[in-house]
Amino acid sequence: MTDKIETPKFGPLTGVRVVFSAMEIAGPFPAQMMAEWGAEVIWIENVAYADTIRVQEFYSQFSRRNLHSLCLNIFSDDGKAAFLKLIETADVFIESSKGPAFSRRGITDDLLWQHNPALVIAHLSGYGQWGEDKYINLPSYDHIAGAFSGFLIQNGEKDQPIPPFPYTGDYISGMTVLSSVLAALYNAKATGKGESIDVAMYEALLRVGQYYMVDYFNNGKLYPRSTRGKDPTQVGCGVYKCNDGYIVMDLVGWKQIQGMLTVMGEDHLLGSDDYPEGIQGIRADSPAADYLEEKLDQFFAGRSIEECEALFAELVVAGTRVLTIPELESHPHYVARNNFIEWQTQDGDTVKGLNVTPKFKNNPGKVWRPMPKRGMDSRSIMSELGYSDSDIASLIEQGLLKTDDQ
Ligand code: COA
Repeated sequence: MTDKIETPKFGPLTGVRVVFSAMEIAGPFPAQMMAEWGAEVIWIENVAYADTIRVQEFYSQFSRRNLHSLCLNIFSDDGKAAFLKLIETADVFIESSKGPAFSRRGITDDLLWQHNPALVIAHLSGYGQWGEDKYINLPSYDHIAGAFSGFLIQNGEKDQPIPPFPYTGDYISGMTVLSSVLAALYNAKATGKGESIDVAMYEALLRVGQYYMVDYFNNGKLYPRSTRGKDPTQVGCGVYKCNDGYIVMDLVGWKQIQGMLTVMGEDHLLGSDDYPEGIQGIRADSPAADYLEEKLDQFFAGRSIEECEALFAELVVAGTRVLTIPELESHPHYVARNNFIEWQTQDGDTVKGLNVTPKFKNNPGKVWRPMPKRGMDSRSIMSELGYSDSDIASLIEQGLLKTDDQ
């Protein structure tokens, strides 16, 4: 055991300390992204039970890389005292819970700022820290936030909403935490004054679900959900079936439309009042939209994926095959960009997963540590906060602190 945790210096977030208390995907995701970009990140787990992500054998290894694990009951008197000492050393604190759980238990923003005025706090919850009482204390996961935000009703097929897998809402919420924390951190570093950010999962999804929705607010127009993977507003955009698999195309731009319709023998439609020269897209509510979609379906059904990709390249139309997972794993472009790496778990097993993204040129991120065992860094962190071996032993005995060697 060392008397403090150590994090190598790398990446754009070197020197930033992040503490988080959250489970599963949405809350941990931003913290772990920061850990891959060089921040020192401490993951607080409940002593009563582990982060439920630990049951996912490989995803846990991937999504908890580079972290330090502290297993502490932060809502007990002694645990709270240790937590507040830890907060004094942090730049960022992220928590995810059922609404204003922290302030309900006496850990208010003001208390945190008394201990660290420059602290950036992000509260992630399903419905926000305030609003209708009936909602703010409710639990939420991806599908719940999707349904409540208007995101789910826009996805799927005509006769049924289908969630955009895998867990898109969690990642969008996590990205919202990440970006807002970094904005607040920029300001906190400049002014010395912290911030408290209220990220409601449904609002994160509402923000990115506006593309069609704003039409409804302004002219009452509602779009149907997609039919067989086609864009509800634009012809030539979406999924098409070739004779050996699926491709996607986004037929946008005059040159592209002209080129594609010429190859299909449908360029007679162009130059009319409905499809004047220079149009950049073909609206799905225009007169020949259904006819054209049918022709596109027929056109692609009679060709192979390779033929279609060659045509897209020739016409500079944005399109590609729909890669399967085995295909992408060995795809030459993925190999060239070193998208997958292997690393060793704490038990010495090899795991494979995505490399750090995105790629920073001057201060690259890296994977330097596997997922820590639960409570693996409890002793070092507590020692760094000034707790003696006997203090630590006493907290363990009271069931307030857990280490991986108990
Ligand atoms: N020490 C002591 N108590 C702790 C603790 C710790 N280190 N960490 C968590 N707890 C407490 C919580 O405060 C909570 O107490 P409560 O039920 O009295 O409020 C209890 O342990 C359970 O923790 P919680 O994380 O809330 O688990 P849950 O199974 O009840 O709910 C969620 C899980 C994810 C549904 C809920 O946290 C939530 O809605 N979070 C916001 C949205 C979110 O992140 N969803 C998941 C997306 S992947």
